[in-house]
Amino acid sequence: MRPTALAALLGLALAGSALAAGLSVKDEMKTVVDPATNTIFAVGGDVDPANGPDAAKVPASRWAEALAAATKLKTSAAHLVGPQKQPGEVWAKSAADFARLAADAEKAATKKDGAAFSKAANDLGDTCTACHSKYKKQG
Ligand code: HEC
Repeated sequence: MRPTALAALLGLALAGSALAAGLSVKDEMKTVVDPATNTIFAVGGDVDPANGPDAAKVPASRWAEALAAATKLKTSAAHLVGPQKQPGEVWAKSAADFARLAADAEKAATKKDGAAFSKAANDLGDTCTACHSKYKKQG
């Protein structure tokens, strides 16, 4: 195969993986990650056992919202680890942490485990900062 043909094939493969991811990182952050994280932080605060006896009294509908948000984050995390991946160790680590903690949050929401859910929510916040401090233009 001639080098130009190979390059064209590789180009197509790259374009294909970008399409498979669907959204750009920016659009996914804005339309999926940010709103889902807001729900997770809010519920995380509500169910944190440190916030007293009312923490256990979150209605099932709220847990269902938390579960749906965690599942969305898990999908976004798979994009960050996979097709949206950018070079460098900070990306690899923060994207992997994001994926693990989104899965933890999903598990905790399924079990309605307030302590585990609020811990995952807190730790998730650190992964945003870790990745943004290197890969997101500050402004
Ligand atoms: C592995 C890397 C990574 C992780 C983890 C990550 N982000 Fe991002 N995020 C980015 C990058 C890169 C951009 C900048 C995209 C651009 O402007 O092209 C961004 C941009 C954003 C934006 C701005 C979007 C806009 O409108 O310009 C928001 C909001 C955001 N992220 C939320 C979050 C939240 C909340 C978390 C954690 C729960 C998080 N991100 C975790 C990489 C990451």
